[in-house]
Amino acid sequence: MSELIETSRDGAALSVTIARPAKKNALTSAMYQALVAAFAQASSDQAIGALLLRGVDGVFTAGNDIGDFLAIGGHTQTSPGMHFIRALATFEKPLVAAIEGPAIGIGTTLCFHCDLVYAAPTARFQMPFVSLGIVPEAGSSLLAPQRFGYARAAQYILLGESFDAAAALELGLVNAVVEPSRLYRHALEKAQALAAQPRDAMLAAKRLMRGDPALLRARMDEELRLFGEAVRSPQARAAFMAFMQKPKT
Ligand code: COA
Repeated sequence: MSELIETSRDGAALSVTIARPAKKNALTSAMYQALVAAFAQASSDQAIGALLLRGVDGVFTAGNDIGDFLAIGGHTQTSPGMHFIRALATFEKPLVAAIEGPAIGIGTTLCFHCDLVYAAPTARFQMPFVSLGIVPEAGSSLLAPQRFGYARAAQYILLGESFDAAAALELGLVNAVVEPSRLYRHALEKAQALAAQPRDAMLAAKRLMRGDPALLRARMDEELRLFGEAVRSPQARAAFMAFMQKPKT
């Protein structure tokens, strides 16, 4: 299990921290496995009523580790990344995120699966899949147009433009913009408030609000199929190489 994913209990909330500051909290296969384990722990432990995700060092996550994309050829049906995406999409208890700094790729797309998201003014969201020669994941090709409307989903997915916390608030991706010094405490209080609600009513309400899971599952399967082809393409590999070889600043 990766020590770069830390968990801590705060009352009835499980805080899960992505802690790989030297690489901007980019997610490796081992880290996805640890995230899946944390989600499973939160699901099975009756004492846990909500899960809170955050990063460290003023960064949420720079997304999938690009070296891993090159090495393992991206997500497959059985890859840890795909297991994490499924865990996100099927997690029944409330899910909260506290976002500071870059939230790139899966860092943005996981927000569609959260029930509450709080962002610091430093937050910067981006879904640069197409720009990297790959395709959207985690159901974002369905969920971004639903949440943002098609025009703005096209701006952020097809052009890969980044957007800040104020724009994310306006787009309905985040619930509030909170100063960094108060962000974690604020998100934790909300996670604990969710955990304190009557459990069965909470789970039923979330399930109803999320709608037909078959639709999302089918879209994620199709995204995965296209992703598997795209990630091995010469364009994608050139984009990954360009990032990995960029001069150090
Ligand atoms: N995968 C692997 N390594 C990554 C990474 C990623 N997704 N994101 C950052 N890193 C590494 C860098 O290679 C660098 O490593 P080094 O110090 O050994 O050279 C280190 O983290 C710091 O990153 P750097 O780019 O120098 O920091 P920055 O502050 O200038 O920029 C980001 C931060 C997050 C904006 C930038 O790193 C970035 O754009 N990352 C890639 C995001 C991305 O495209 N993710 C994939 C989405 S599908």
